[in-house]
Amino acid sequence: MATSHMEPSAYTLKDKVAVVTGASSGLGRAIAVLFAAHGTRLVVCADLKPEAQAGGVDQEPGKRTDELINSRHGDGRALYVETNVAIGEDVSRCVEEAVRLGGRLDVMVNNAGLGVEKIKIHELPEEVWDKMMSVTLSAVNLRSVFLGCKYACAQFLKQKPWPSGDRGWIVNTASILGAVGIIDGAVSRTAMTKMNYEDQALSDRLMARTPWRTWGEAQDIAKAALFLASDGAAWITGAALPVDGGFLAA
Ligand SMILES: NC(=O)c1ccc[n+]([C@@H]2O[C@H](COP(=O)([O-])OP(=O)(O)OC[C@H]3O[C@@H](n4cnc5c(N)ncnc54)[C@H](O)[C@@H]3O)[C@@H](O)[C@H]2O)c1
Repeated sequence: MATSHMEPSAYTLKDKVAVVTGASSGLGRAIAVLFAAHGTRLVVCADLKPEAQAGGVDQEPGKRTDELINSRHGDGRALYVETNVAIGEDVSRCVEEAVRLGGRLDVMVNNAGLGVEKIKIHELPEEVWDKMMSVTLSAVNLRSVFLGCKYACAQFLKQKPWPSGDRGWIVNTASILGAVGIIDGAVSRTAMTKMNYEDQALSDRLMARTPWRTWGEAQDIAKAALFLASDGAAWITGAALPVDGGFLAA
């Protein structure tokens, strides 16, 4: 019989220090909460504001993410840092806060992002395209990932590696809309997809195209982020992992 060499603790983030952007709502909130439940010493919750966006399906929606984590795991396990991920100084400050309080940065999750207009390409007015590609919008969805990687990597290179030799982990949230040319393919119920999951006809159409036949929850994405940041993914890097109830495979 084959022997598994994977330790039971392969999916732990024990003693790790993480920054999660867009942590106040939806996917970022679920990631921050799950990381804390799996042992992070500190989660820096980076967002424009500490309160969740209205309309998502969040755990304990009245509570800020940092407060939720600290109430469950003890004071000092999470910290909210007001951050605009499009601005280098803000992202750099988040990393500095992680290092000031946690001594280092182990995991950077570049998750914050904005939804864009969903219109069929042949009906898309040029000015809407220009708006989607404007500095303001693309800075939140693209520049932010560059900034998160830049400041995280600079810190990773300064700090002592873990016994595995790893200096840090980066997880970026993207979208299946980067892989398929459809207009409505959201799979997790958050504030960003409220318009989709509350529209019964659209929701039915989406479910008919989703092999799992249910909406995904923010938790489903959080579990994937936990896996990618943990030792369970030790031999994985640079991989794009669809977490979509089989949507892309159908
Ligand atoms: N929910 C889905 O089904 C889905 C599908 C595809 C991609 N995504 C991507 O996942 C990420 C999270 O989406 P979500 O569904 O949780 O959305 P959400 O709207 O529920 O949460 C996004 C969070 O990001 C924050 N944010 C927005 N702009 C910011 C900025 N400039 N600086 C800092 N924080 C900012 C918001 O305040 C909010 O708390 C986004 O990048 C989104 O494009 C989500």
